[in-house]
Amino acid sequence: MLENVKAIYEEINHYTVASKEQLEQFRMRFISRKGVITELFEGLKTIPAADRRAVGQELNGLKNLAQERFDAFSQHVDDQQTSANSAPPVDLTLPTVPNLTGTQHPLTLVRQRIIQIFERIGFNVADGPEIESDWYNFGALNFPDNHPARDMQDTFFVDKKDNDPSGDMLLRTHTSNVQIRLMEHQKPPIRSIMPGRVYRNETISARAHCMFHQVEGIYIDRNVGFKDLKDTLYHFVKELFEPGTQIRFRPSYFPFTEPSAEIDISCQICGGKGCNICKQSGWVEIAGSGMVDPQVIANCGIDPDEYTGFAFGMGIERITQLKYVVNDLRLYTENDVRFLRQFEGL
Ligand code: DAH
Repeated sequence: MLENVKAIYEEINHYTVASKEQLEQFRMRFISRKGVITELFEGLKTIPAADRRAVGQELNGLKNLAQERFDAFSQHVDDQQTSANSAPPVDLTLPTVPNLTGTQHPLTLVRQRIIQIFERIGFNVADGPEIESDWYNFGALNFPDNHPARDMQDTFFVDKKDNDPSGDMLLRTHTSNVQIRLMEHQKPPIRSIMPGRVYRNETISARAHCMFHQVEGIYIDRNVGFKDLKDTLYHFVKELFEPGTQIRFRPSYFPFTEPSAEIDISCQICGGKGCNICKQSGWVEIAGSGMVDPQVIANCGIDPDEYTGFAFGMGIERITQLKYVVNDLRLYTENDVRFLRQFEGL
């Protein structure tokens, strides 16, 4: 009998319970009236009276152990149950959390749109250096040394020689440098647009920045006239801006074009009635343009008697400002997602 008791001690001590079902099995085997311990108590009657007391004590110890273990196991199973209940329910029918993807920067969107419009009418895309020599940024474009026209564009110099601009290196102030590089290396017909960054020594404010983007355009071939310039830019404005946008060419001056014109469109904000953006005039300037000066064509080794052409240049920030009513240039570089998210899906 004592051996049986010992074996059951062992069994209880090694018992583990991980679920409600196993807890119930434990109860049935050791605690319930039909369990092994009750059976042992019943067996007490058959034991000689002299030993009964000692065995009875052993059995009571066993009964207490079984009860203690049972209490501990039920606590454990309860804890497991509550932690499973407090976990969020999994609803497998829910759509997955959307993958947050970035959006395209408004300047990228507008640059791509401009490229698309010009590519459709036969322009290709060209590129040139941002660190440039004085010759490509100024000299070849007819800015004579010490000419006041150079003051139109406040230049960041990388390397500046006193009294001799020809050796200067600078951050390009416009994308017109790429016109020169193209004409030097290609035979007409040349029909390209050249998007890129430009730099000017300006204090950063809502209206000015020391780094911005331009798109330059050039078309050089036989018999290219001012009408071609007008047609091309009319087409561009019609494609990019709202239907009904008006366009006008206003006489202007650039050292590298003759004649030169600035291109205005009717204000996108007030529709031409007059507002803060257009300074009450109803018109806003979007680009400079003109017929490429024969001297510039000759500077690049092309015969200006055989070839003529037009060129234009526009600021991408400016076009974006008009198209999407962005009133502060600094928004483009601050990376504020509240601003950037507004261009999602455009
Ligand atoms: N380079 C000029 C600027 O930055 C813009 C410009 C005007 C470009 C006339 C041209 C042009 O190609 O023909 O202000």
